[in-house]
Amino acid sequence: MCGIVGYIGSLDATQVILNGLKRLEYRGYDSAGIAVLQNEEIEIRREAGKLINLQRLIEINPLSGRIGIGHTRWATHGEPSARNAHPHLSATGDVVVVHNGIVENFLELREELSAEGVVFRSDTDTEVIVHLVERYLSSGTDLVEATRKALSLLKGAHGIVILSSREPDKIVTARIGNAGGVVIGIGDEEMYLASDLPAILEYTQRVVFLESRQMAVAYQDKLDIKTLDGKPVIFEEHQVTWDPISAEKGEYRHFMEKEIHEQARSLTDTIAGRVDIEDGHRVRLPELNLTREFAKRIDKIIIIACGTAAHAGMVGKILIERISRIPVEVDIASEFRYRDPIVDQDSVVLAISQSGETADTLAAMEEARRKGATLWSIVNVIGSQAMRSADGYISMQCGPEIGVASTKAYTAPLVDLYMLAILIGDLRGTLNDRAREQLIADLRLIPDLAGRCIEREDGIKKIAPKLMNTNHCLFLGRGINMPTAYEGALKLKEISYIHAEGYPAGEMKHGPIALIDEAMPIVVIAPKDPWYEKMFSQIEQAKARDGSVIAVASDGDELISNVADHVIWVPETPWMLSPVTTIIPLQMLAYNIAALRGLDVDQPRNLAKSVTVE
Ligand code: AGP
Repeated sequence: MCGIVGYIGSLDATQVILNGLKRLEYRGYDSAGIAVLQNEEIEIRREAGKLINLQRLIEINPLSGRIGIGHTRWATHGEPSARNAHPHLSATGDVVVVHNGIVENFLELREELSAEGVVFRSDTDTEVIVHLVERYLSSGTDLVEATRKALSLLKGAHGIVILSSREPDKIVTARIGNAGGVVIGIGDEEMYLASDLPAILEYTQRVVFLESRQMAVAYQDKLDIKTLDGKPVIFEEHQVTWDPISAEKGEYRHFMEKEIHEQARSLTDTIAGRVDIEDGHRVRLPELNLTREFAKRIDKIIIIACGTAAHAGMVGKILIERISRIPVEVDIASEFRYRDPIVDQDSVVLAISQSGETADTLAAMEEARRKGATLWSIVNVIGSQAMRSADGYISMQCGPEIGVASTKAYTAPLVDLYMLAILIGDLRGTLNDRAREQLIADLRLIPDLAGRCIEREDGIKKIAPKLMNTNHCLFLGRGINMPTAYEGALKLKEISYIHAEGYPAGEMKHGPIALIDEAMPIVVIAPKDPWYEKMFSQIEQAKARDGSVIAVASDGDELISNVADHVIWVPETPWMLSPVTTIIPLQMLAYNIAALRGLDVDQPRNLAKSVTVE
C-alpha cells in the first residue's frame, strides 16, 4: 500500500512526481524516493520519513528531467529507511523500479541472483525485480521483454513501474493481482502513471485503468497495452468527474476534519439521482443491474469488507433483513476467503470498500466468484478493482477521501445500503407502497440531520479535553447502533492511539463490566430506537459501578441527561438511519481528542489509506 507516480512529457518530471506523491502520501508515508533521467543518466534521491524530508533533500541536491518515477512507502520488508526506500537501482545503474505489493518468493530469487554475483543494497523484496530485469537486458532482450520475463518469475500481487536509461523514450508499468491499482493519465504529448487518481487529476481527467496481468508501455505520445503473455489489449479511456480541488484541504487543518464537515453534502450526493419521487417514490440503482427476477431468486446475501467498511456492513445486515426479508451474513473479508464459505449462484456476495483496492476484500471477491456467487460492490473510488470486477455496483459518490480514518465513506454506504434494502424489498414485493414512501421520506431528511450534528461540534469540543488523557475507553451499542460502538471505538483507536473497545451492550454483564471503574470512560450510544429501553438499563448498570458515562442521546431525552455524566445530543432520527447521526459526533470526538494530543490525524502511525497487501 504504497503510492507510485510516473511521468513522461515536456514538464519538469521532478515537480510533477513530487506533486503526485504528495497527493498519494495517505497510501504510505514512512519513506519516499524519486528517480529522473537527467542527461541520459538515472539520478535518484531517497529519504526516510515523510515526503517533506525528500523535498528538502532535493532542494539541497536538485535533479531534473522530462521522464521519471517516484514512490511513497508503507514498509513491508526492510525497515523504513533511505536505503530501503524506492526506487531501487540495478547494478549498472541503467534500470530503476518502484513497486507496490509483496514479492512473496523474494528470498529464493535473492539467493539465485546472489549466486549470480548480484550484490543487494537493501533489505527489501522489491530489489530482486530490478536485478531480474537487468539479467534479461544484459542477455540482449529489450526493456519490455526483459520486464515480461522478470514478472513471470514473481509470486504475489504487484503494481510496478520501470524506467531505463537505455530506452529513454518510454516508461513500462504492469499490474498483477490486487496490489493497488495502476491508472494511466493521458495528456497532450505526455503520460502520467499513478496508483490512484488524486495524483494526476490536476493534469488530466482522461484515464485508463490497467487490469490485472496487463503491461503498458507509455511513450510521450502513445500508449500500448498488452497482456502479460503479449496479446494486444483494446483499452477503454474514461473521463473522471472528480475535480482536483475536492482533493484539497481548503480552510481545514486536516482532511479528516474537512471530510467530517462535508457529510451533509456527501450524503446529498450519494442520494442524488437515486430516488424517483415522481414515479411513486422508487429507488434507482442502475449500475447494480438488478432485475425483479433475480431479486426474487436471491437466497442470501453475504457482505464482505474490512475495518470501517465492515461496520457499515453490519448496519446493512439489519436494514436488508428488516426491509427485504433476505438473510444476510456479514464476514470480515480476510476470514471469508479462507473459511470455505457456502455460496451458490443464487447467493449475492456484496463487497464494501472505500478504496476498492483492499487486497483482503478483492481476494474474498475472487473466492466468491470462484464459487459461482453474484458479485456486487459498494465503492467510492471510481474505476477501482472492486468496482470493475463486480457484476453490479453502487458508487458512494462522496468524492475523494484522503484522511486515513474513514468518515464520509462510512456514512455514505449506510445510506447506500438503506436504498439497496428498499430496492430489493420493492422488487421482491416485501415492501408495500405506504411503507416504501415513508422510508423514502425519512431518507430525504438525512442530509439536513447530518448537517445539524456537524453544527454541534462545540459540544464535542467541551467533552474532548476530558478524555484526551485517558488510556482506555469503552463504546457500547445495541441493535442497529451496535456497529456504531465498533466504529466509534475504531476512530478513536486509529487517530488518538487510545485503547478503545466497541462492545455489544448486552454482553457487558458477561465479562467487560469488570473493567468499569471511575477511570474507565464509557461512551453509550442510546438514541430513541427499538433498543432504547435496554440501553438505558445499560447506563444504569455502568453508573452503579461508578463508571463515567458519555451518552449519545436524542434531543430532549431528560431521562438520560439525569444519569449520564456527559450527553452528546443528536437530532431525533428515524431509527433505521440513526447510525448516521450517532456516528458523526463520535467522529468529531475522536478527531478533537487526536488534535488536542497533537497527533498526525490524517496520517496516523502504522496505517495507510488502502491496504493493498494481505
Ligand atoms: C478506516 O478508518 C480505516 N482506514 C480502515 O479500517 C478501512 O476502513 C479498511 O482498511 C477498509 O478500507 P476500504 O474501505 O478502502 O476497503
